[in-house]
Amino acid sequence: MPAPSSHVAEVPGGGNSAGEERAHFDALIAREQRIEPRDWMPDEYRNTLIRQVAQHAHSEIIGMQPEGMWITRAPSLRRKAILLAKVQDEAGHGMYLYSAAETLGADRADLTAKLIAGRQKYSSIFNYPALTYADVGVIGWLVDGAAICNQVPLCRSSYGPYARAMVRVCKEESFHQRQGYELLLTMMAGTPGQREMVQDAVDRWWWPSLMMFGPPDESSPNTAQSMAWGVKRHTNDELRQRFVDMSVPQADRLGVTLPDPDLAWNESRGSYDFSEPDWAEFAQVLAGNGPCNAARLARRRQAHEDGTWVREAALAHAAKRSGGRP
Ligand code: 3HC
Repeated sequence: MPAPSSHVAEVPGGGNSAGEERAHFDALIAREQRIEPRDWMPDEYRNTLIRQVAQHAHSEIIGMQPEGMWITRAPSLRRKAILLAKVQDEAGHGMYLYSAAETLGADRADLTAKLIAGRQKYSSIFNYPALTYADVGVIGWLVDGAAICNQVPLCRSSYGPYARAMVRVCKEESFHQRQGYELLLTMMAGTPGQREMVQDAVDRWWWPSLMMFGPPDESSPNTAQSMAWGVKRHTNDELRQRFVDMSVPQADRLGVTLPDPDLAWNESRGSYDFSEPDWAEFAQVLAGNGPCNAARLARRRQAHEDGTWVREAALAHAAKRSGGRP
């Protein structure tokens, strides 16, 4: 775990030249020390963090939609309470991450406007529909499971506020995955129709879950630099492989079949071989042509508009309390 850096960039002699500040930044990264908001950092480091943290935050908020639509249709009060807690957690994760982005100088309202205008991304996974209640369990098991694979290493990200936000997020994600898996175990012990619902959901969510980790390393424009700066600790392909190796035994325990005929244990690699996801589909979803892209952004835009009065009231109250002082 990187040690916290010197909060104030202690560069010998003060009044530092750009070269000295850059050298100090590089030394912090090399020593695996955290970069904190008040430390000098290259614009490129700041910008790629704003890019990634904003996408992460947007993903948490948009990610509330697929499952949120099942809250009113949960089959029992217990399932409804669990799903309410999970969807509420995702909102909180978004808030932590927008706060982390603000420590980099980003403006939350500006990030929201860019999301709604389609000028910033959110995870491709949330552009697929949650068609049956089994999807709630499969999203918990596979999507939150993939998020855990991706987010646990981010607890060691070089940027302090991002890494610290991830610690709390990951604790809640493990609940998200377990509740989904427990729901699926229950359905798989149920009727043949319930078992068919689970298998159908697995068939629809498996490949989009693999795409969550990003494009193959050789076509990732950001991975090499993000790894050099310690923003990311593993490459997209490394984490995708880790997710497959984790999921196959879980699928066996559930009694479902993962929809990849080439999935097979490779003794020499100590991992599972698996087929390449459909990267043309991935590119289409990122281009806005996925099954639910338009609906997700329309819903987010509507929620933002519906919340205008809340923001105005909060700002008016704050102004009144401060007596108009900024
Ligand atoms: N969905 C949408 N865009 C994606 C993507 C995906 N699954 N994978 C990659 N991209 C985008 C990248 O943002 C980048 O575009 P940009 O330069 O315009 O931002 C481009 O495709 C190339 O990808 P790279 O691999 O070069 O980009 P990164 O180095 O940023 O890696 C990432 C992509 C692995 C998603 C990384 O950004 C990351 O780890 N982000 C934080 C974690 C995250 O977003 N997790 C998923 C959503 S959160 C979630 O699942 C909530 C949970 O509660 C369910």
